[in-house]
Amino acid sequence: MNITEEIQELKKEKNAVILAHYYVNPEIRKIADYIGDSYYLSKAAVDLEEQTIVFCGVSFMGESAKILNPGKTVLMPDVTADCAMAHMADAETIRRMREKYDDLAVVCYINSTAELKRHSDVCVTSSNAVKIVKALPNQNIFFIPDRNLAHFVAEQAPEKHFVYNEGYCPVHEKIQVQEILKEKELHPQAEVLTHPECPQAVREISDYIGSTSGIIDYAGKSECMEFIICTENGVRFELENQNPKKKFYFTATEPVCHDMKKVTLEKIRDVLKSGENEIRITDEIRAGSVRPLEKMLELAR
Ligand code: 13P
Ligand code: SF4
Repeated sequence: MNITEEIQELKKEKNAVILAHYYVNPEIRKIADYIGDSYYLSKAAVDLEEQTIVFCGVSFMGESAKILNPGKTVLMPDVTADCAMAHMADAETIRRMREKYDDLAVVCYINSTAELKRHSDVCVTSSNAVKIVKALPNQNIFFIPDRNLAHFVAEQAPEKHFVYNEGYCPVHEKIQVQEILKEKELHPQAEVLTHPECPQAVREISDYIGSTSGIIDYAGKSECMEFIICTENGVRFELENQNPKKKFYFTATEPVCHDMKKVTLEKIRDVLKSGENEIRITDEIRAGSVRPLEKMLELAR
């Protein structure tokens, strides 16, 4: 039996389902039941029949699945796969902001720890943040942890007053304007498609800004045949697979989230066998963090 067959057998035996983010290694696709962006995966996680969820992604994704499904077992193939940005805010600053502004909504990007979610009013992902912020009755928005996504959302919701936090994604932050312009010189017809976690200077020279799924949808619908992609290189597989006649270029320093790439077929097989690396959330943290996640699912519907 090869490793793929072994995983398929174990999935049946353990009544397990595999969820994977677009950024994980392409070979994971062969065995994943659901592949998507953060919003798609958090929605998918609430309707599953299987008792065990193997989450191929970083820890905030597994945590969110567990918070939304406390009765299920959520396993992480690699417990050290983490999102640096998820830790770039703190409860004390949130408390100070609540004191400073009446009418404050603390809007928490899903790329955050369960502890940060617990102190927030609503979660968002990059694909629903604008819609949710606009739907909130609050005038003052403290957006954590990502300053780049916050600025992008603020541009789309000028009727709100934003308070910014200094978090950022180390992978998207490193995408360089100079490198994009170099690709543009080589491929002048190409459209630049960008994730909103990128800095403003990158967003300003982009033709489209959207979540991972948004970028994939846009590339499929556009009449353009060439694209410069400003996000993590894991989307390349999906873009090329869905659009075999189109060309996709990345910047010379290819953006790679090494934490997402920690997930391997061997580690998936091992956690299915052993039941190790289970996500555990205390009742106290779950009680506080389920509310903003459920509010996101409700407002984004
Ligand atoms: P998406 O919301 O587009 O899935 O992005 C998740 C992420 O981690 C981006 O770096
Ligand atoms: Fe976090 Fe950035 Fe990796 Fe996404 S790409 S999981 S935001 S570190």
